[in-house]
Amino acid sequence: MRAAFITQTGTPDRIQIDQLPDPTPGPGEVLVQVGAVAVNPIDTYIRSGAIAMTLPQPYILGCDLAGTVLETGPDVSDFRPGDRVWGTNQGIAGRQGTFSERAVVSAEWLYPIPENVDFEQAAAAALVSITAGLGLCLHGKLQAGEILFVNGGSGGVGSTVVQLAKAAGAVVITTAGSEDKLAYCRSLGADLVLDYRTPEMDQQLGEFLAERGKINLWWETLREPNLPRTIPLMAKRGRILLMAGREAQPVFPLGAFYTNDLSLLGFAMFNASPEEQRAVAARINAALASGDLVPLIGLRLPLEEAAQAHRCQEEKTLLKTSPLSGKIVLTP
Ligand SMILES: NC(=O)c1ccc[n+]([C@@H]2O[C@H](COP(=O)([O-])OP(=O)(O)OC[C@H]3O[C@@H](n4cnc5c(N)ncnc54)[C@H](OP(=O)(O)O)[C@@H]3O)[C@@H](O)[C@H]2O)c1
Repeated sequence: MRAAFITQTGTPDRIQIDQLPDPTPGPGEVLVQVGAVAVNPIDTYIRSGAIAMTLPQPYILGCDLAGTVLETGPDVSDFRPGDRVWGTNQGIAGRQGTFSERAVVSAEWLYPIPENVDFEQAAAAALVSITAGLGLCLHGKLQAGEILFVNGGSGGVGSTVVQLAKAAGAVVITTAGSEDKLAYCRSLGADLVLDYRTPEMDQQLGEFLAERGKINLWWETLREPNLPRTIPLMAKRGRILLMAGREAQPVFPLGAFYTNDLSLLGFAMFNASPEEQRAVAARINAALASGDLVPLIGLRLPLEEAAQAHRCQEEKTLLKTSPLSGKIVLTP
């Protein structure tokens, strides 16, 4: 099978496209004919070596996939050949990634694709929607009527948080950095969309909060959180969710934090158990089927362009120079 893989970490030009042996499903595993995969920032951190991990040799890139079950190994009862499935969680903890024509995935990390959803949409939603669902429900415990703030409402995680939080009945405030992206966030139904490039942003946010109340759940997608700015905007018993920025050493204003009973919550989606992720996947499938969640795909490329896809993801998330909104999806 053709696959995009590395034998050494480094820049995107280390990515090779070549034939690798077809994998065979073992007990509890499923062989998937891959229909589409999506790129996430973590793929680029693993490829570059920024996250040090012991990788299989060669290491196939990618966490997300959507495709069709070709074969099941012993002890798999949930899936049959021909079923359409999606998943994330590959490419870590010694597991091979997904950027290949076929992938073997443990059945516990696979979910059915709703009828009205195609492979590209399912792959585009995978990691970001499990992340958004875990953050909103398991960690952030968002309630209907609460005020949620999320930075980067057109980003992979941010756009999913906006849509799921609106569907849950929250008041949603978000930010973006171009006219197109601001318009996209408004189209998702956000109650207040702020241009983070403008100096008026904090005043506009302050006026909105003076009318509606302070923020109950702050979802920080940025790798450099600004807690002196965030903490005074929080309602009593508010929760601040941090999920990016391994090197960050933010300043922490303790007084306004503990005197308002605030909580600071960190999480990484890969830590959630198969059962926790399956419960979120069921909610995501319901949101995809109902149209409450519509993943935005910004760039479609063939698998052969995996190196270009990684460059684009780095321009978007790390260099912040990309006009791209939406996920980068590859088809083998
Ligand atoms: N802990 C976990 O489990 C987990 C899971 C998934 C992702 N992550 C991490 O979360 C981060 C976001 O991931 P992603 O896939 O959503 O990335 P992404 O699609 O590249 O989104 C990044 C977002 O940041 C916004 N942004 C950039 N500069 C900003 C600023 N100064 N103020 C406000 N917003 C700004 C961008 O907005 P514009 O495009 O409008 O500039 C964009 O919406 C990454 O660091 C990723 O590694 C963590």
